[in-house]
Order: sequence, then C-alpha cells, then structure tokens
Amino acid sequence: MSSVDLRAEFNRQMNQELRNAYLYLAMAAYFDSLSLTGFAHYFKVQAREELGHAMKFYEFMVDRGWEVELQDVPKPKTKWGSVLEAAEDFLAAETENTKRIWRLVDLARGAGDKAAESFLQWFVSEQVEEEKSASELLAKVRMARDQPAALLALDRALAERK
Ligand code: FEO
Repeated sequence: MSSVDLRAEFNRQMNQELRNAYLYLAMAAYFDSLSLTGFAHYFKVQAREELGHAMKFYEFMVDRGWEVELQDVPKPKTKWGSVLEAAEDFLAAETENTKRIWRLVDLARGAGDKAAESFLQWFVSEQVEEEKSASELLAKVRMARDQPAALLALDRALAERK
C-alpha cells in the first residue's frame, strides 16, 4: 500500500468515528424519548468520545501534512425496538470498529509507516476498553430485561458516567 492510500484510509476512519458519534447521539435521543435519561447520558458521553477519536485522526493527519478530507456522514439508524436491541447495536459497532483499526494497523505496517503504526496503538488499546464497556452494558441489559425496577436501577447507575 502506498502512503497516498494510507491517507485515504485514515480519512475514512475519521469519518467512521464521526459515524459512530452520530449513531450514539441517535441512541441518546432514542433513550431520551423513553425517559431513560441515564442511558441517554451514557450515550451522549459516548458520542463525545467518538468525536474525540475523530479529532485524534484529524490532528494526526494535520501533523503529518496530509490532506483532511471531510466526507458525508449519513443519517444513522434512529429507532430501536428495545433497549436490548440498542445495546446489541452498540457492541456490534465497537466490534466492527476494532476490525477496522486492526486492518489499519496492518496497512500502516505494510506501508512501512512507523509513525502511523505507533499512532494506531492507542486505538488498539482503546478498542479493548470500548468492547469491554459495550459487552458489560449488554450483559446488564440482558439481566434487567423484563424487570422495570432493574432497568431503572441500571438507568440511575448509567447517569453517573463521567
Ligand atoms: Fe472510536 Fe468507540 O471507538
């Protein structure tokens, strides 16, 4: 892979992080519509984190003198049939993102771009945390399923996310 292609892939990943920010903001709006304000808060924080991830790609590309190309961010899914379905989508999005990051690491290595490879290591570690958080949330939602009191307790706990 040439460094030109690697630049295109970095721009694509910046867009992917923005897509995830948009997806999680849509989830926040879904939970706000259900008055599950703790869940909504959790996903607002998550959306901000994704925006931060996009900005890491942005700053890295600027630092390298690469062209930043902002691409369309399509309308995300906005409705879910249940809290469980949204939690499943959260984990699926993070699992997919891990695959994308790992692929980028392979591409950076193939291009011999040590700086890009080093930059991506933060994301490799971050994705371990992201998948863990999403898996834990999904497990808790499964436990609370069909038990309104348990779901409301989980909602209160999620409101504490910093
Ligand atoms: Fe940007 Fe949730 O990983």
